[in-house]
Amino acid sequence: MKSLVQGVHHITLCPGGAQQDIDFFTQVLGQRLVKQTVLMDGSIPIYHLYYGNADADVGSIATSFPYSRKPGRAGSGQLSCISYTVPNGAVTFWKEHFDRHRAEHSGVQERFGTKYLRVRHPAGLLFEMIEESEDQRNPWTTTEIPRDVGTRGFFGAVLSVRDVRDQESFFVDALGFRKVGVDGPYHRFEVQGTGPGRIVDLHVEPERAPGSWGFGAGTAHHIAFNVETDDALVKQKAVYEELGFTDASEIKDRFYFHSMYVRSPGGILVECTANVPGGFYQDEAPEELGTKLHLPPWFEDQREAIVAQLEPITVPEENRPRPGTTSVPKPVVAAHHTPVEEPKIPLSRYKATFDADKQAT
Ligand SMILES: [Fe+2]
Repeated sequence: MKSLVQGVHHITLCPGGAQQDIDFFTQVLGQRLVKQTVLMDGSIPIYHLYYGNADADVGSIATSFPYSRKPGRAGSGQLSCISYTVPNGAVTFWKEHFDRHRAEHSGVQERFGTKYLRVRHPAGLLFEMIEESEDQRNPWTTTEIPRDVGTRGFFGAVLSVRDVRDQESFFVDALGFRKVGVDGPYHRFEVQGTGPGRIVDLHVEPERAPGSWGFGAGTAHHIAFNVETDDALVKQKAVYEELGFTDASEIKDRFYFHSMYVRSPGGILVECTANVPGGFYQDEAPEELGTKLHLPPWFEDQREAIVAQLEPITVPEENRPRPGTTSVPKPVVAAHHTPVEEPKIPLSRYKATFDADKQAT
């Protein structure tokens, strides 16, 4: 079938503390904090932090719900590792860099003939740097991580499943991927197109106990694929329903994009997203990305109650780009002056009362 999916849009994790997460992403993984906002479901204020490459490209965005109020259980039926591309030869740098930060890592390994190195977040989450020379996206750089080794964006992700069969059918029939190979316990799938971020590896672990599905520190929550438009999102929901996946969610307004979720057969929550005009640049200038807390307009009247319940955080000084290090699509839509275009499909928005007595711990 012709796929509506164009590649990974973002991947969402639940670490523990917010500052610990910011420090790991920015200093150890060398990512740029590109957005501070909050979880838009539920009645407890939880940060939603977005990290990406220099240009905050779709397909480079890892997001976090720092969920220190409850531990999760890592296991099968979950996304088990986020994969970033780095230039050929760069894994040697990353091994030394992780050693300098005393970050637990796997040493250099190989799968499908490509070198990679895995590293563990303090909350237990896994990331890997995979060598791939074709990826031309603009890496974020730091005082420790120069351009010639920086991460370009997602290569893809690794998903742990106990049985490959139904998850394989889901990726092929519902999402339009094709199977491109098997290497030991890893089954590789690729979606059509030419850009990066189109790979998913199913890691078959028949003996691994199932992980938890809800929010909980130390677990991945979902993977999101870009279908680009609202029309494609509606069509993707119909594809799910035709195949019997009738638990696909309503389409939700996430302000920076629109979202629809379904629980895939292997247990992994899968989101599809449509982009909105301005994207992450709707509510802050390019050089300001990630430096302040932004709430969706329908939460603004509760800003004080929300902020009072969030962990105070410090954004690294070097999160502001140096001249010439980013390229931003023109024209940039500046948020406070330009209303968001009225969506042409019905969208769900949830707005709770953020009671202080439910304070996150
Ligand atoms: Fe998401």
